[in-house]
Amino acid sequence: MKFNLLTVKEIVKLTADAVQISFDVPEELHEEYNFLPGQYITLNINGERRDYSLCESPNDKKWSIGVKSQPNGKISSYLANELKVGDQLEVSTPSGRFTIPTKPNEKRTLLAFTAGSGITPIMSMLEFTLQTEEWVNFHIFYVNRDENSIMFKERLTELKQKYPNNVFIHHFYTRQDQENFIYNGRIDEKKFDLILNQIIDINEVDEAMVCGPEEMILTLAKKINEAGIIEKHIHFEMFNPSVKTEDIFTKHDEGPQTVQVTVTLDGETSEVTWDRGKNLIDTMLDAGIDAPYSCKGGVCSSCMCKITEGEVHIGDNYVLTDSDYEEGMTLACISRPKTATLAIDFDEV
Ligand code: FES
Repeated sequence: MKFNLLTVKEIVKLTADAVQISFDVPEELHEEYNFLPGQYITLNINGERRDYSLCESPNDKKWSIGVKSQPNGKISSYLANELKVGDQLEVSTPSGRFTIPTKPNEKRTLLAFTAGSGITPIMSMLEFTLQTEEWVNFHIFYVNRDENSIMFKERLTELKQKYPNNVFIHHFYTRQDQENFIYNGRIDEKKFDLILNQIIDINEVDEAMVCGPEEMILTLAKKINEAGIIEKHIHFEMFNPSVKTEDIFTKHDEGPQTVQVTVTLDGETSEVTWDRGKNLIDTMLDAGIDAPYSCKGGVCSSCMCKITEGEVHIGDNYVLTDSDYEEGMTLACISRPKTATLAIDFDEV
């Protein structure tokens, strides 16, 4: 994860409280800023880091994010209301694991459930897939307060017009009644069952994506799995998780109070003393090592690393897969020492 100072090239109003911000990425940085549909960049604003998903197709060489001003959200409100074209921001290179494989020669069905600004990474996946997969059926089930709060409304309509046989957008409103009652309100378990009965044949679905608030993800990922889609083909990205790191660790209190850890990052190996009262990211930052991080809460995956010696306790998270655990991966921000010696490698990810 590397940060560069990038200039804001364009700001487009999407709704009353949301904007699309585009950055000027100089030609010499294009390779470093290459991304997969669904990935995000991290902004560092006065020492505070926030992740924002990229919303354009990587094919178009545009680096744009969608930002919705959140109640009490200092950073999102600054970005949505005060940022100007020509301003410069510290922007990281793209990362993130909310991606799906590309299959240009197959006829396949993709399913996305999203709400509010959760549409942002889906826009990138949608546009890229439509550009590259002639036979795709891409269904989006998108929840908003009402018609006026739909982010990317015009672009969604244009894509539907351009690819009428490939894209199917189903708008749900929580505060605006629609003729067909199925589209009124959030997508809960009951609504999901109705969707399966009336709109989608789950047996035809190849990949399912869920992007939105934690409750939506937990409910729908479970339902999709119960309906027959195996975990490997269910992808999700959580916005605003409710679990705090302190809560994660109340149950993991066994292990040495301090350990010497060997950390390898960007080809350099250093020794740090890690006190279990502090997370490894802050320990490294205090030691002058530029540890990669963003959320510090087990959500974004920026701090993923490999344990090459010893063991750690790993807090609850929605990032690591079974194969990650088998390969010895962990998230530095939610790990606590379990053994007296430890070696951790950030480069082997
Ligand atoms: S910093 Fe986000 S998962 Fe660790």
